[in-house]
This record gives sequence, structure tokens and C-alpha cells, in this order.
Amino acid sequence: MKIMGLLFILVLLASSTNFIAYSQTIVETLPGFPGPLPFKLETGYIGVGEDEAVQLFYYFVESEGNPEEDPLIIWLAGGPGCGTLRAFFFEIGPMQIQYGNYMDNVPALQLDPNSWSKVANVIYLDAPTITGYSYTKTPEAVRSSDTASASQTAEFIRKFVKTHPKFLKNPMYVTGISYSGIVIPIITEELYKGNDEGLEPIVNIQGYMGGNPLTNKTGDINSRLEYAYRMALISEELYESTKKDCNGDYAEADSNNLQCMLDINEVNKRVGDINIQQILDPDCDAVTNLVRGGNPVTKENRRLLRGNPVNLRPAQSMLTDTFCRGDNYNYATLWANDENVMKALNVREGTVDEWLLCNLDMKYNYGKPSMPLYEFNVQNSVVYHEKLSKRNCRALIFSGDHDMMVPHVGTRNWINSLNLTITDSNWDAWYVNGQDAGYKTTYARDNYTLVFATVKGAGHTAPEFKPKECFEMVKRWFAYRPI
Ligand SMILES: *[C@@H]1O[C@H](CO)[C@@H](O)[C@H](O)[C@H]1NC(C)=O
Ligand SMILES: *[C@@H]1O[C@H](CO)[C@@H](O)[C@H](O)[C@H]1NC(C)=O
Ligand SMILES: *[C@@H]1O[C@H](CO)[C@@H](O)[C@H](O)[C@H]1NC(C)=O
Repeated sequence: MKIMGLLFILVLLASSTNFIAYSQTIVETLPGFPGPLPFKLETGYIGVGEDEAVQLFYYFVESEGNPEEDPLIIWLAGGPGCGTLRAFFFEIGPMQIQYGNYMDNVPALQLDPNSWSKVANVIYLDAPTITGYSYTKTPEAVRSSDTASASQTAEFIRKFVKTHPKFLKNPMYVTGISYSGIVIPIITEELYKGNDEGLEPIVNIQGYMGGNPLTNKTGDINSRLEYAYRMALISEELYESTKKDCNGDYAEADSNNLQCMLDINEVNKRVGDINIQQILDPDCDAVTNLVRGGNPVTKENRRLLRGNPVNLRPAQSMLTDTFCRGDNYNYATLWANDENVMKALNVREGTVDEWLLCNLDMKYNYGKPSMPLYEFNVQNSVVYHEKLSKRNCRALIFSGDHDMMVPHVGTRNWINSLNLTITDSNWDAWYVNGQDAGYKTTYARDNYTLVFATVKGAGHTAPEFKPKECFEMVKRWFAYRPI
């Protein structure tokens, strides 16, 4: 364990009008990784909400390219309530877990060659409220909602640039995946609006990005039926009869409509053993239900290591046909709950009993208006995309095309409803290393541009499945080049 290189700063920044208490630590070494980190990692807390009772934890990786000019992005994991470490290790971050290898009594780490920090300054935020290492000073502040989470995250971003004035001028993008599709456009709009209203400092907001972003809850879930048909998981006859008998509404299907219920039952029989997050992966979890009976949006890995932590597990090959991705996430849970890891990250003592990959008291559950710690009070965020389409704003929406959780079919539907004009590309292939990596369509209205891209072969968290392709895609997009 090495924390000697750890530098701890507590700063009180006072000005005539406001006052921010925050802390930041430069982390030079991490348990599980030999030697000093070859990139600049900072962790810290910024207080938001009333009396700054919500203390949001972040990891900040400075760009390894050109930090002065590269964009500043904030990454939001989904859930809600999933720790952002998952993205740090498995999706876009600078490090990966070495499956089955241990060092310093924790899962060993290695560098990720496709880290987005090669082309951007990346903030990984644990939000809302008690997600990951974030905590609250009062029990009342724990409960959150879509709107509260969005406004606290917007507050976080403005305070972040205030406390990191070096990044005031960098183009800023709000980014993330999955459930964060609900809050990303709300946060982005709030930043533009705050700038218009004279909030300080001005955030150089330029746009946003979402991967398989949940956007229209009903529409996205309805689109699973058409997706299942297009991917040859159900027959054309069953697709047609279900569509007709249920009048196109499966998410909110009328349970008195017997014929529709029978059809949905037939559909569920056929997709029940499919891994909803990546239809080609083995299914390690509970039964998939298309829309009814159980939880269609979240599936938890049932094989928790929690009862038996730091018990060394043999290395598993990612290539075996019984490989379960959920097993990998458990290594992150082991790492994050280690005392020396928390010390190295300068997690405040006594604030987190247990680091959870996802807090199930927040996690989205279709059909429920709330969970104990979170109210799902935004049914769809399409209206925020509409508002943003009137601004000087750029959007990149990408879809792993093997995701049945938030299928590209539903994403295309809400994008179409914005009535944008198609510009250079209309479902044209885009390439990485000379290979077709997916299909793209580019749209515009006045000063708004939107790029929609499928990522061929990827599941719900596209960069986890196609890291090289996703890295190339964002690199081009950040550089204002065609993807
Ligand atoms: C959301 O999806 C539902 C169901 O498909 C549809 O009726 C509604 O018009 C959509 N709303 C928006 C704003 O796109
Ligand atoms: C898109 O066009 C349709 C048909 O003209 C219209 O009903 C709808 O309100 C438009 N939507 C937006 C977001 O402009
Ligand atoms: C687009 O942006 C330019 C430059 O910022 C501005 O002059 C123009 O009014 C904007 N157009 C619209 C339709 O908002």
C-alpha cells in the first residue's frame, strides 16, 4: 500500500457573493497498480443542494493529450445509483481490472489503451446523492429524483469549473449512458439557461452525448418488441399479432386485454433466456421479461461475492461461452470496498459503509413511480432535446445495436420526432481500421447538430463491448470531424 505520494488539499474559496467548501486530492498511486499512475488523477468532493448537504464524490482524469484545449466532459453512469467506477474500469476509463489477478491484496489494475482521457478531460461523478462514495450530511438529503439529481449535477458542474479555473475555457459536454439519458439533456439545458441568466462562472457548454440513453420511457420499452422481431428472436406472425392485439402498447398494456396478454406471454417465452443487455452474451441473470411480470429494465447479477470478499477467484477467460460479465463487476466491488483503496482515494472516513456497484434502492424499475430513495419524476426527456435543438449545441447519440434494454429502434423514434433535417449521412457506414463499425445519420436544425450512430455488435454499455470503435468515434466527434 502506498499513499505517500498523496497530496491533500482542503480549500475554502470565499468571494463576495458565495462560498464553496470542497476538497481535492491528487492521487499518485493506487492499490493494485505498480508504481506511480502515468496519468493525472484527482479525487474530491463538491457539496450541492441545500446547505451543501449532498457531498458528491468525483474522480477527475486530466487529458493525456492536450489538457488546455481538449474538451471537459462529465460522465454519468446509469441506474440511477450506479457508481461511476464501473465506467472508469469497464467502459471509458484509464484503467481496467486484471481479471483474476491480485496485487496489494486487491484485484490488480492495468492501463486501458482506449481511455477517453487520451482526448478529453474526464470527470466521473458519483451521483445522485449516496451513489458510489458520495454521501449526505443529513438523512433527509438522501432521497433524490430525476429533477433533483439533474439540478444538483448542474450545480456540481458549475462549482467544478469554478474550483478548476484552468478548465473554464475548455468546451464542456455532459455525457453518459443508459438511465442517465433522462438527466443528461435536462442538465445540459440547465447549464445553457444558467449562462443566459448570468450565473457565474459561465460554463462553456457545447453539447451532450448519450449511449443507449433511456429517453422516452414508454417508447423505449415498447420498441423492444420491434427490436426482438428485427433481430429474429420472435416470428413475424407473433410480432404482427402482438402489435395489433396490443394496439402498439406493450409497456402499458391493458391487463384486461386477454389477447394482448397472451401474445406478450408468447413473446416473453421466446426472449426469456436472452441477455437483455447484449443479446449475444450468455444469460447469467434472472429471466428477461419483455415488459410485464418482473423488472424489465434492470437485471441484477445474482452471484454476489459479498458474502466472501477477497476470496481469490480463479482467472476466467472472457472467451468461454459461459463468461458472465457480472462476475467482472464484482472485482470492482472488491477493489472499491478495500480500506487502503478508500484511503488512497481519500474517501472521507466513516461516510460510506459499503460501496455498491448499484444502489438497488434507487435503480429504475419500469412501472414503479419511485424506489425507496428515488422518485422517477421525468417520464420522458424528449422535450429537453427539443429545447436544446434551438440552441447552439452539438449532440452525439450512440446505440450498441445488440442492446435490447434501450434498443436503437426506440432511440430512432424519438430522434425522428424532433423533425430535424438529415444532412451529410443517412444510415451510412462509419469505419474503424477500414472495417464497418456501425451506421451513422447526421441531423441539423439551425445551430444544432445531432449525430446518431449505431455501434455494430455492441451491447447496452457500448464502450465496454467495442472500446476501440467507441474511442475512435468520440475522438472524431470531439475534433468536429465526421465520425
Ligand atoms: C413516447 O412514446 C410513446 C409510446 O410509444 C408515444 O406515444 C409518445 O408520443 C412518445 N413521446 C414523445 C415525446 O416522443
Ligand atoms: C414535428 O412535425 C409534426 C408534423 O408536422 C408536428 O406535429 C410536431 O409537433 C413536430 N415536432 C416538433 C418537435 O417540432
Ligand atoms: C446561430 O449562431 C450564430 C452565431 O452564434 C447566431 O448569430 C445566429 O443567430 C444563430 N442562429 C439561430 C437561428 O439561432
